[in-house]
Amino acid sequence: MTLGRTDRTRAVAQGIFGEESVERGVRLLQEDLLGLQSLEAMSPQAASEAGFRIVVTRDRLEQRVAELGACISKDYDGKPLVLVGILRGAFVFMADLCRHISIPVEFDFMGVSSYGAATKSSGVVRITKDLDLDISGKDVVLVEDIISSGLTISYLKRVLEARRPASLEVCALLVKETQRVEEIAPRYFGFEIPDVFVVGYGLDLGQRYRNLPYIAALQERR
Ligand code: IMP
Ligand code: MG
Repeated sequence: MTLGRTDRTRAVAQGIFGEESVERGVRLLQEDLLGLQSLEAMSPQAASEAGFRIVVTRDRLEQRVAELGACISKDYDGKPLVLVGILRGAFVFMADLCRHISIPVEFDFMGVSSYGAATKSSGVVRITKDLDLDISGKDVVLVEDIISSGLTISYLKRVLEARRPASLEVCALLVKETQRVEEIAPRYFGFEIPDVFVVGYGLDLGQRYRNLPYIAALQERR
């Protein structure tokens, strides 16, 4: 399904602002009142002056990702570890995380896309790229950018469990403080964040802003 430009703006607005404020959201996005056009080029200072709240700074990301890597290295010492990154959001996190892993490790990726509005998970997940590795008998860590409702990760866990890995754990950079539809407790996570829509460090809004080196929340300019 490909959405037209107007439909996409609407879907994004609905995801960020909710159904009840969708018209206002569309206007804010169309007129770029959120300043999104220039966000990619923004330093953290410029971003916060423009009304973006930095939720996790670059320094805190670096520090926490290093801790997670050290933890995984210790827990999986002597085991056949496979890191499975969930595309596309996890690619930045996975790239940094793996450079703090000091034990032998194999890599693979799964591509998923969820149907429905651009910023809210519908829970219906389509696998766009499956694993190339055989994970049976191996210790697998699923690397995900963010857990919100929990639907995406619990679906993927079910799919991968069926392939009989020796173990299967989740490492999520972010966990939203929100009502989970599927209860999911990741063995490893970086930060718990409020239930706001965030971009950066792999996370996108309409495929943009993944390259920001920090996590920023979109908020309306006062
Ligand atoms: P869940 O299925 O509701 O847990 O949502 C997980 C997926 O939704 C993630 O893999 C992200 O792709 C996307 N997502 C959820 N919240 C955000 C956000 O705040 N920013 C960007 N993507 C998000
Ligand atoms: Mg994702």
